[in-house]
Amino acid sequence: MKNKLKHITVLKGDGIGPEVTNQALKVLESIAHVYNHEFIFDNKLIGAAAIDATGNPLPEETLKSCLSSDAVILGAIGDPKYDNDPKLLVRPEQGLLALRKALDLYANVRPIKIFKDLKHLSVLKPHILDDVDMVIYRELTGGIYFGEKNRTKDSASDLCIYSNYEIKRIARLAFKEAQKRRKKLCLIDKANVLESSRLWRDNIIKMAEEYPEVTVDFLFIDNAAMQMILNPLQFDVIVTSNMFGDIISDLASVLGGSLGMLPSSSAGYEYRLYEPVHGSYPQAAGKNIANPFAAILSIELMLRDFGLIKEADNVMGAVEKCINDGFVTSDISKSLAMQCSEVGHEVVKNIYSEKNINYGVII
Ligand code: IPM
Ligand code: MN
Repeated sequence: MKNKLKHITVLKGDGIGPEVTNQALKVLESIAHVYNHEFIFDNKLIGAAAIDATGNPLPEETLKSCLSSDAVILGAIGDPKYDNDPKLLVRPEQGLLALRKALDLYANVRPIKIFKDLKHLSVLKPHILDDVDMVIYRELTGGIYFGEKNRTKDSASDLCIYSNYEIKRIARLAFKEAQKRRKKLCLIDKANVLESSRLWRDNIIKMAEEYPEVTVDFLFIDNAAMQMILNPLQFDVIVTSNMFGDIISDLASVLGGSLGMLPSSSAGYEYRLYEPVHGSYPQAAGKNIANPFAAILSIELMLRDFGLIKEADNVMGAVEKCINDGFVTSDISKSLAMQCSEVGHEVVKNIYSEKNINYGVII
């Protein structure tokens, strides 16, 4: 009898999406094998790949599969052929945004973990990175991303609108997370200029009364960007709007040495999606050079959410060992420069050896 049976929709997407997701799936299959679980995969199209095949960046069939699965794994979205023509009405990114909205994935969680063996490769001085460990709670289904858009011959506008309800539900999760961690919460906004940011502040100040043990800070996004580089240790839990969260998480990725290391989970009340923070990196597509760790670590987050803690710990340990042993792609080390599939293979090997299973005998 299998321990756990899970249906997972796999959206490999564009650019490096397929190759990094393939490594993540290899990892998941090895976990299933070692711990006697069963994961059933349903591959579907999204983004540019879906536009090319169907004209729609989020085909009905894709959405249907996501709505009936236990989790969604996503690779990456975007293709330069859609980037430079402002007249195009259909874009790959619309598929991802529509999916986030349809699954009501309002809470995007982006942990920023610094692997100690990568510290020396950061553009920052290693001592600045000592003990840095933070998590970004990015609101994902509201704000300027989804407000009304208008275009006339001479002007264009994007409305940034937030309701108390939208702010409170992500703020609640962020406060709870802060309680479990170093008990520090920082709201990043632009309350000196934006009315919507002032609404965020009002809500956070009010909610803080329910969490007296959590210290709450407020930073304007411009200052926060500077602080992220000067003194990242000050951050524990960050909560912020959709747009500021998008920007600050790319910036935070520099701390750990590469954007290719950052996983994320997106959750609503019913659905969950796991995806790397990085994009489709079209220049590297098909070359087998992309960093698969963000995709693999997204699997780690998924296993943890499934309550499969031993399994998640095994994946994390396997990734750490891989880094330690120098199995890393060129974004991390130009001289080591392993291939994407070699790194995935090594993680799988480590997963088996953690359980004292001889990988060579199985495969
Ligand atoms: C991300 C990405 C997306 C975003 C793009 C692809 C629409 O940059 O997940 O951070 O802006 O949310
Ligand atoms: Mn982004």
